[in-house]
Amino acid sequence: MRVLSGIQPTADSFHLGNYLGALRQWVRLQETHETFYCVVDLHAITVEQDPKVLRERTRRSAAQLLAIGVDPAHSALFVQSHVPEHAQLSWVLECQTGFGEAGRMTQFKDKASKQGTDRASVGLFTYPVLQAADILLYQANAVPVGEDQRQHLELSRNLAQRFNNRFGATFTVPEPHIVKDTAKIYDLQDPSAKMSKSASAAGGIVELLEDPKRSAKKIRSAVTDAGREVIYDPEGKPGVANLLTIYSALTERGIAELEAAYEGKGYGDLKKDLGEVLVDWVTPFQERVRSYLDDRAELDKVLAAGAERAREVASRTLAKVYRRVGF
Ligand code: ADP
Ligand code: NA
Repeated sequence: MRVLSGIQPTADSFHLGNYLGALRQWVRLQETHETFYCVVDLHAITVEQDPKVLRERTRRSAAQLLAIGVDPAHSALFVQSHVPEHAQLSWVLECQTGFGEAGRMTQFKDKASKQGTDRASVGLFTYPVLQAADILLYQANAVPVGEDQRQHLELSRNLAQRFNNRFGATFTVPEPHIVKDTAKIYDLQDPSAKMSKSASAAGGIVELLEDPKRSAKKIRSAVTDAGREVIYDPEGKPGVANLLTIYSALTERGIAELEAAYEGKGYGDLKKDLGEVLVDWVTPFQERVRSYLDDRAELDKVLAAGAERAREVASRTLAKVYRRVGF
C-alpha cells in the first residue's frame, strides 16, 4: 500500500495545525506503507515568491520533516520540482478537467477573491490538478491530510476514475487519510477559524520554529470562554476543546483522562501545563532542525536520493499515461 503527501514551502516554519493534522500521520504511516513525501515547491509559486526565500524555505521544510521523524530509510523524501513528471502529468490531467469543475474549488475561490480575480494566476486555478498529479503518479492508496484538503482529494479521485474509464485502468483511486480527532486545529485567538499561515489574521498560530517561550505565551493567552470547567464541548467551548485536542495529541493522553485530571482546576492551569508540554516537545525538535540545516551536503544527498526513488515510480506511471493518451 502506497502513501503520498506534500507540504508547501510557503512559510519559514510549519505550524501546529500542519503537524497535528497531517505531518504526524506521515511519520506513523511509514511503519505500514510505502511512503512518498514531498516539499511541493511547484505549488508554492502559485502565489508571488522571492526566489532566494523560496529556496531557503524548501530546505527548511525538508529539515523540519526530518526533525518530525520522516525517515529517509523508510520514505522517499524529495522536492517536487526535482521530479519533472509532476508537471508533465499535470498537463495531461488538466486536459481531463472541466473549467467549471476547477472553478468550484473553494480554496481557489477564497484565495482568488483575496488577490482579485484579475491578479490571481492560472497556476492558482490549476493547483488542485497538479495536486492530483502528485498523488496519481505514485499510485497512492492513501493521502494523509487535514480536513481542508477533502475537496481537492475528491477531485483527484474523480480525475483518476475519469481517466481509467476513458483510457483503461491506469491509476489507483486514492482515499483521503484524515484523522478525525486532529483533522482541524483552530486558531488560538479565533477558535472558529482553522489555524493557518495563510489566513492567520487573528494571529493565534503556533509556529514550530518560533521561540518556544512565545508559543507558551500564545497558549496562555488563548481565547476561551467565561466559564471555568475544563470539559470537552466543541460547540459550547470551542477554545477549550481546541486546547484539549492539542494537549491530548501531544501527550497521547485521552480527552476523558485530561478532563478528569483538570476537575476542580481552571483554564489557567490547563493553559500553563499545555504551554509546558509544548515547550518540552518543540525544544528538541528545533535542535534537530538546526542540526539538519547545518549539514547542507547531507540534506542535499537525502533529497537527491529521495528524488531518484520517486522518479522510478513516477516515470513508470507517466510512460503508461503517455501511451494511453496516444503519445
Ligand atoms: P496552510 O493551510 O497553513 O497554508 P498547508 O496548506 O501547507 O497549510 O497545509 C499542509 C497540510 O497541513 C495539509 O495536509 C493541511 O490539510 C494540513 N493543515 C493545515 N492547517 C491545518 C489545521 N489548522 N488543522 C489541521 N490540519 C491542517
Ligand atoms: Na491548507
